[in-house]
Amino acid sequence: MVIQMTDPTHEKGLAWQVGVWDRMADTYRREIDLRFEPVIDRLLSSARLVEGEDVLDLGTGTGAVALSAVRQVGPKGSVTAIDISPEMLAIAKSRANNVATVAFREGGVEAIPAEDESQDVVLASLVMMYVIDRETAAKEIARVLRPRGRAVMVVWAGPEDADIVKFQQTAGRYAPKPPVDGVGPGALADVSPFLRQLSATGLVVDVETADTEFTFPSFDAAWDSLAAVTTANLYDAARKEARSAVRELMWNHGDGNALDFRNKIQLIVATKPV
Ligand SMILES: C[S@@+](CC[C@H](N)C(=O)[O-])C[C@H]1O[C@@H](n2cnc3c(N)ncnc32)[C@H](O)[C@@H]1O
Repeated sequence: MVIQMTDPTHEKGLAWQVGVWDRMADTYRREIDLRFEPVIDRLLSSARLVEGEDVLDLGTGTGAVALSAVRQVGPKGSVTAIDISPEMLAIAKSRANNVATVAFREGGVEAIPAEDESQDVVLASLVMMYVIDRETAAKEIARVLRPRGRAVMVVWAGPEDADIVKFQQTAGRYAPKPPVDGVGPGALADVSPFLRQLSATGLVVDVETADTEFTFPSFDAAWDSLAAVTTANLYDAARKEARSAVRELMWNHGDGNALDFRNKIQLIVATKPV
């Protein structure tokens, strides 16, 4: 069963999300993919994929998780990778070189295009904090998992523990207010409401944290990769203010110097009982 969206606020929020990620796609592939590798490695090591498993990658973006997963499950397994952003998916597809065991499909986590109990593993790398209706998403994840199946999801910690969240939230304060509340890089700093939503579906949940890191060589490089899209429509004065706020908070050691971003992640593992 696929749940259809009818709520106009949700529809507006989703259209806004698609726009942001579509505009972000090239920068993501060029600047972000490599930097998020440690997060993806940690997610995949928690998932312990086994040859022959059927895997669903939610919010695949430019496909990094899906492409590693397809190697791990081998030719007898399968990977279905979904995303709401056609531009992100186009890059993911172009990286897959027509491998037969990975399929890329446009779709959202709140209405997963997959059959009931069809997946051994659901993966979601840095996605759930952008999902507008996480209660429905939790039900969807439980629906598509086979008994004994597992969902492994990773989200950022809050701004005090994740520099990427601190950077994006500070810049974001100057950007137009999103049409929906409760989404953004730090939206699951407190994972407990989402854990309750997962538990309510019958999934058994567990969380652990890990430290990850990446570097930007200069303030401009970080700004262009992490804030340019969300602040693109600001008037010059507001953009200057946003840049100054981030610089003052995080980059007072000189624009041309590098910064190591320390980013705590939270790994949520949800298992479907028999
Ligand atoms: C930070 S990127 C993560 C991409 C990839 N998983 C990775 O780790 O590199 C977030 C992705 O989630 C997608 N996304 C956001 N909301 C979504 C939703 N409701 N359903 C499916 N994908 C969504 C975005 O389009 C974007 O590609």
